[in-house]
Amino acid sequence: MADIRLEGVGHSYDGGETWALKPMTWTWRSARAYALLGPSGCGKTTLLNIVSGLITPTTGRIWFDDREVTGVPTAGRNIAQVFQFPVLYEEMTVYDNLAFPLRNRKVPKREIDLRVREVSRLLGLDQVLRRRSRRLDPGRQQIVSLGRGLVRSQVAAVLLDEPLTVVDPALKWTLRSKLKEIHRDTGHTLIYVTHDQTEALTFADEVVVLNDGAIVQAGEPAELFLSPAHEFVGHFIGSPGMNVLPAEIVGDVVRVGREDVGAAPGGLPDGPVRIGVRPEFVRITGTRTSPGVAAKVTGIDRMGAYDLVHARVGEHDLIAKTEADSAYLPDAVEFLHFPADRTFLFRDEVRCGSLAPLNGRGQG
Ligand SMILES: Nc1ncnc2c1ncn2[C@@H]1O[C@H](COP(=O)(O)OP(=O)(O)OP(=O)(O)O)[C@@H](O)[C@H]1O
Ligand SMILES: [Mg+2]
Repeated sequence: MADIRLEGVGHSYDGGETWALKPMTWTWRSARAYALLGPSGCGKTTLLNIVSGLITPTTGRIWFDDREVTGVPTAGRNIAQVFQFPVLYEEMTVYDNLAFPLRNRKVPKREIDLRVREVSRLLGLDQVLRRRSRRLDPGRQQIVSLGRGLVRSQVAAVLLDEPLTVVDPALKWTLRSKLKEIHRDTGHTLIYVTHDQTEALTFADEVVVLNDGAIVQAGEPAELFLSPAHEFVGHFIGSPGMNVLPAEIVGDVVRVGREDVGAAPGGLPDGPVRIGVRPEFVRITGTRTSPGVAAKVTGIDRMGAYDLVHARVGEHDLIAKTEADSAYLPDAVEFLHFPADRTFLFRDEVRCGSLAPLNGRGQG
């Protein structure tokens, strides 16, 4: 295991015209479980393949602790990688497939047997160990692929690229908690690629959010939820995502239209900003108070456990998550309040501050 450090690493597939991965400096810390989360095409696989050595980056250098590996091929990096679809020797038995990465590295036979049985037990493969891989369904084959990635105990890192895509949804949950268990036991550095926020948030110690070839924020799940550093994180994490509303800093206050919604944090020049507040934190009252904005209720989704109240402020739609069976009615005018400690200001999509309480006036 090692810290994996990327120094100014970037990659272009077209000779520098566009960057699939913009030059970045970033360290994957030893023994942590990371989720690499982002939408399709944002560069997740590219980043993973750079770590494993399948791709040599266009620019930058890579270090495993104090050993530079920038030009070192995959075989010399001691990395285990699991891909989205099964990579197996179909004519071999499940046992031999699991043993292969160890035999290849001349691990003693007894130790191989121990490791194979250990992994097989964890992944529920005991019943099929003697079966040829070709005869398993694709979901099971993928579990064997996963086992091949986890069977080696001495690796710099285990990289998993959407490894559960072809696996049955019910089994996914079980496998994900197994993976966590294996991570606790072995202390491998894990990087788990996914575009599914639930998968990322339940699995990882730290979630790295990638968008458009750049890391926009990394942190524990709660941090990404409560304190998004970028509008993209606000949208991509949470369901529904963060509300965004155009506003303006005018002297000491932040205004939406002509209404004050809070105090400006200080140190920011006057001008347009965007307010970001999650539906969970928007408060609704029936009477006007300042700070707050008037909003017209446009619809209510009754979700059973809670309601989602849709409201319009000027031209903009917002959602508030309220208790179930709320009494809000379509077309009613209500007032929305944005709690200062849960409401952030963004410029060019990047957080530039938080709303501050307005002194002497009620603040949610
Ligand atoms: N071999 C390639 N040649 C040219 N362009 C590529 C190649 N591989 C990826 N790209 C482009 O680089 C960008 C990043 O792709 P990448 O596969 O890393 O994204 P991803 O986040 O893994 O997406 P997905 O979730 O769909 O797997 C995309 O615009 C993609 O079209
Ligand atoms: Mg990919």
